[in-house]
Amino acid sequence: MKLFLDTANVEEIRQAAELGVICGVTTNPTLIAREGRNFQEVIKEIAQIIDGPISAEVVGITKEEMVLEAKELAKIHKNIIIKIPLIPEGLKAIKVLSSLGIKTNATLIFSVNQAILAANAGATYVSPFIGRLDDISHDGMELVSDICQVFVNYNYETEIIAASVRHPIHVAQSAKLGAHIATVPYKLILQMCKHPLTDLGLENFLKDWEKVKNK
Ligand code: E4P
Repeated sequence: MKLFLDTANVEEIRQAAELGVICGVTTNPTLIAREGRNFQEVIKEIAQIIDGPISAEVVGITKEEMVLEAKELAKIHKNIIIKIPLIPEGLKAIKVLSSLGIKTNATLIFSVNQAILAANAGATYVSPFIGRLDDISHDGMELVSDICQVFVNYNYETEIIAASVRHPIHVAQSAKLGAHIATVPYKLILQMCKHPLTDLGLENFLKDWEKVKNK
């Protein structure tokens, strides 16, 4: 399973890249706002650190605005993926961008039908938001499961990004279900790494080594 980092914080991206476990980045307007920096500058910097798909989201709400923004963003780097919200105007934009060879990530996906529409319009990726569904007492994992099943049934090439991931179990379950990618915050990478038996095992190995290291 591929892992993307869900952040616009370049320091976190550097640290995760050093671990060698991520191959892409997703951002959104909220994550960019959190950094308080110029959008294009941040995206350029991310592209220098990660040699893989970097999702940058449009903020226009008409096809024309989205396509215009997308063309500008796509000029920044060959790895830029245009994140488009799943609304009718977004579908139109995905269709245009797909015909221009510009890759897209259909975002704010909360139903199987939205994922089908995005794939039919030519989206490169769909991003079902697990955590936000869980937040309103719906089952986010069930959505990932349903999209995985439908995409297999119809041989869709569109890749599934498990998004709005809140804890390590979301990642493991998405992987079992066959989501191609999980996009996760940096702290989640560290949580995935952590196991108390690893820490205890290492502590004991080092203690035992102390007993014999000078023999
Ligand atoms: C993914 O592309 C989204 O930016 C992100 O996963 C949203 O996560 P949130 O629901 O934690 O804001």
